[in-house]
Amino acid sequence: MNRIAVAQPRLAGNERKYVLDCLDTSWISSNGKYIAAFEESFAAFCGVKHAVAANNGTTALHLALVALDLKPGDEVIVPTVTYIATANAVKYCGATPVLVDVSADTMNIDPNQIERAITPRTRGIIPVHLYGHPAQMEAVMAIARKHKLWVLEDAAEAHGAEVNGQRVGGIGDCAIFSFFGNKIVTTGEGGMVTTNDDEIAARLRLYRGQGVDPKRRYWFPVIGYNYRMTNIQAAIGLAQMETIDAALSERQALARIYDKALAPLADALVLPTTQPGMQHVYWMYTVYLREGGEERRDAVMRALEEQGIETRPVFYPMHVLPPYLEDKTYPVADEWAQRGINLPTHQDLTQDDVNRIAVALRQAVGR
Ligand SMILES: Cc1ncc(COP(=O)(O)O)c(C=O)c1O
Repeated sequence: MNRIAVAQPRLAGNERKYVLDCLDTSWISSNGKYIAAFEESFAAFCGVKHAVAANNGTTALHLALVALDLKPGDEVIVPTVTYIATANAVKYCGATPVLVDVSADTMNIDPNQIERAITPRTRGIIPVHLYGHPAQMEAVMAIARKHKLWVLEDAAEAHGAEVNGQRVGGIGDCAIFSFFGNKIVTTGEGGMVTTNDDEIAARLRLYRGQGVDPKRRYWFPVIGYNYRMTNIQAAIGLAQMETIDAALSERQALARIYDKALAPLADALVLPTTQPGMQHVYWMYTVYLREGGEERRDAVMRALEEQGIETRPVFYPMHVLPPYLEDKTYPVADEWAQRGINLPTHQDLTQDDVNRIAVALRQAVGR
């Protein structure tokens, strides 16, 4: 029985050709034609003016926060259910992530909880488009405008997701994406910051390249970082962008196959839903057990593993992790995160694979 991976990249287009071009021409470092080409292609895909490549999604987050001028003592509102990099990047700036509970339907930041978390120190909000479903951006943007806060979209997991026909990446003041090997678009390791703001874009480029003055070599007006992407990474990324439309529609098709195969288990599992006006890109098809806690969830995952099916638990909320531990309860995150399972979600899964996963899940949940 072959093993079903939870995620795997599809590298079947021009990836090899473009990487070999980098090797053959010796443009292997962070100069070369693929970087600008990848940035331009990604900006066009998101419908934004600027895309600035970075060496991973975490540095993209840090870079975006530096460009937004986040300072020690400032506060940033972050959903408690996210990957830890979202909160860590705020800490890298000496600022404080202020956690907010999520909505049960998508596990994205609950806009109704945001205003009560705002203080005079709050500078911005980082909504996360968790597992490929956009956060409620209309509500988030309205709150941000009212309180004069910036919005940084954490779109690490949501390439191509849409809100009322607009792709994520151009809704907030800026946005970040990850291109880790398990993401919808991959460069192995890699990241991108997108923005429509010329001034932010200039700051992103300045701080990404050690802070060097673009007009004066070895002159550094600020302390910057080396967060540059290599031409080899960008070569893979450009090839990935050539097949992104197919990738997105294959993921939609897979989600419909899952919906159908798992419908008979709806009394045991909450299946993913899409909010009106939104386009979910299913980075991860995620289900939640209706009953039980972490122990039962882990037992279900072990049962699937025994059948050769890899899964992942939904992220622990930040407020239960040692660096961000709080005494407070976040009712939705506390109840639901521990019951969540990411099922295998990638383009090479077949109807037979999904049937096998559905059978294993039915046995595991005792239906
Ligand atoms: C929500 C979220 N933010 C940020 C990141 C960080 O991206 P990277 O792993 O490329 O550093 C990830 C990565 O998995 C993520 O899921």
